[in-house]
Amino acid sequence: MKSAELKGLVLSGGRGTRLRPLTYTAAKQLVPVANRPILYYVLDNLSEAGIHDVGMIISPETGNAIQDAVEDGSRWGIKVQYILQNEPLGLAHAVKVARAFLGMSPFLMYLGDNLIGSGIRGFCDSFEKSNADATILLKEVSNPSSFGIAEVNGEGQVLRLVEKPREPRSNLALVGIYFFSSKIHEAIDRIRPSPRGELEITDAIQELLEQGRNVLSHQLDGWWLDTGKKDDLLTANSVVLDEWVKRQLVGEVDGESQVSGRVRLGKGSKVIRSTIRGPVVIGDNVQVEGSFIGPFTSIGNGCRILSSVMEHCVLLENARIENVDRLEDSLVGKGSSVIRNRGSHQAYRLMIGDDSEVLV
Ligand code: G1P
Repeated sequence: MKSAELKGLVLSGGRGTRLRPLTYTAAKQLVPVANRPILYYVLDNLSEAGIHDVGMIISPETGNAIQDAVEDGSRWGIKVQYILQNEPLGLAHAVKVARAFLGMSPFLMYLGDNLIGSGIRGFCDSFEKSNADATILLKEVSNPSSFGIAEVNGEGQVLRLVEKPREPRSNLALVGIYFFSSKIHEAIDRIRPSPRGELEITDAIQELLEQGRNVLSHQLDGWWLDTGKKDDLLTANSVVLDEWVKRQLVGEVDGESQVSGRVRLGKGSKVIRSTIRGPVVIGDNVQVEGSFIGPFTSIGNGCRILSSVMEHCVLLENARIENVDRLEDSLVGKGSSVIRNRGSHQAYRLMIGDDSEVLV
């Protein structure tokens, strides 16, 4: 039963406090995983599921950057319309702001900073065949108090939902991917802001249940990474590099270097007297000289790595690493430098912004 075509609603607003300081200067949805913004994987999934008409919620702070990165969506074969949410007043508030775009269509709401290790086509098909007014995706987590949590019966029917419960009655977290019929709008009109001052989509779905509506769920088999924190981001990077990188050397590798395994080296990049062991992705115009780059590392465009050793790291654009004996499990922001002066390694001379971390 396909009444109206499923629309997409991608949430790319919000403030992203958990990834500070990176998100002071960039949207959390644009933080790269394996050198591609997280949001691009979201759009891959929508497009692959046959969703063409996409509303993108943006905030005043990061809306321009999101628009520059996605443009009109034609790269994915989709049509993107931008919708401004002036203040981060919650996920259900974002749906309210998008009401004119959504009309009476059923829709898929997808949080733009969520990364899952599978497509969503099967979930779309089963929602369209069902008579449910909402279908949610769930994944078992070890820290249920940090998420929206669902209690379900053996058939996957949802019985109760609570946003970030202090005493969780289940460990099934709401992954940020939801299917809704137009009935959600009435439910949103009936809820009030939560203790954190937001209109919670979790409360709106609970409201659907209280009106006797059918709410279904699927559990994700694959991985789900809520890339809210540094370690999540490093894990996401490793998982995506592991599953996705193919060997492709476009840049130059000199005769004194060794590049083994699945390594992508972008155009204009140079590897000089260095060893690189995949999976590793290196962007364009990167210089690697006299260095070792170990597995699970992503290096953004324009970076320079001289006389250093690193493994399991993410370097954003134009970062510089020089004379660093061993850099591990680290995230280095855009245009940042980590440079050790070989002559004077007794003292560190630092300029560190707010919320940074230096573990030496
Ligand atoms: C939001 C939702 C929560 C959901 C989570 C998934 O949380 O409110 O129910 O489990 O996304 O990422 P927030 O990121 O706003 O804390």
